[in-house]
Amino acid sequence: MQQQFNNKNNDIQIWVKDRLWPRAEAKVSVFDSAVQGGDAVWEGIRVYDGRIFCLDRHLERMQNSAHALGFANVPSNEYITDAIRQTLRANGMNDGAHIRLTLTRGEKTTSGMDPRLNQFGCTLIVLAEWKPPVYPPSIKLITSSIRRNNPMFLDSKIHHNNLLNNILAKIEANYAGADEAIMLDSNGFVAETNSVNIFCIRKGQVLSPTPDACLPGITRGLVIEICKENGIPVLERNLSLTEFYTADEVFCTGTMGELTRVREIDGRQIINKSRLEVLEEIQGQFRRLTQEWGTPIAP
Ligand SMILES: Cc1ncc(COP(=O)(O)O)c(C=O)c1O
Repeated sequence: MQQQFNNKNNDIQIWVKDRLWPRAEAKVSVFDSAVQGGDAVWEGIRVYDGRIFCLDRHLERMQNSAHALGFANVPSNEYITDAIRQTLRANGMNDGAHIRLTLTRGEKTTSGMDPRLNQFGCTLIVLAEWKPPVYPPSIKLITSSIRRNNPMFLDSKIHHNNLLNNILAKIEANYAGADEAIMLDSNGFVAETNSVNIFCIRKGQVLSPTPDACLPGITRGLVIEICKENGIPVLERNLSLTEFYTADEVFCTGTMGELTRVREIDGRQIINKSRLEVLEEIQGQFRRLTQEWGTPIAP
């Protein structure tokens, strides 16, 4: 799931707060809440063929995350949509682009963590880059020693910028020569990886961890809907590592990498004993949605 640096991104325009800036000048203040405390929420969104995929779902999750964190003066969905459209148009991006949408609690009057120091409204960042979806044939995972946050600590339903536990897990994957790291929940069940959701398929049934200690990913939700609409048995429940090691197929889901097959976990090969190709069918249906759904870039 590594993304290569694309030279075309040298000259992009980036939206910060209320206007576009050339890449070299796009900056936030040292007093911004994202700098002071990682106090921000974000979304990763894809652009396919002139359309912003699942924009409504991403904006709903962003607004919910901002509300849960008690942000004040949050820009409206209409304002954010307009900023995204202006950014894509300024960069001539119609396809093969990925948007990192960030909303921070905003600038503070002085350094500190207290949200009462935030007197200037939120900071909106629309960072759109040329990043076509990568389709590695398959990826290799290890299990991290770092547990995924659950509602007892920091609710994973808030899509926040406090990414250090995910980054620690990713460091373990890097040292182990793996693509990503599986993170368990506090009871030892599989939650997700450091950056994507995870599914396994056993004897034709698609299984996903309950979204208690994972981000309820938008791609994950689409996969569950695809299964239900196409008569593919699907179930959300607690899943142990052994069930992943011995599954017929395992795959990850996320906006950046779409649906990616897992070939190995902790040295165990994933062997399709059932010979059913369920993942291929779901991938085909997902690709169809990316070609049909979305908010037009041109209003
Ligand atoms: C921790 C984590 N899990 C899963 C996902 C995938 O979510 P989505 O399908 O909404 O991109 C993301 C994406 O941001 C993520 O950060």
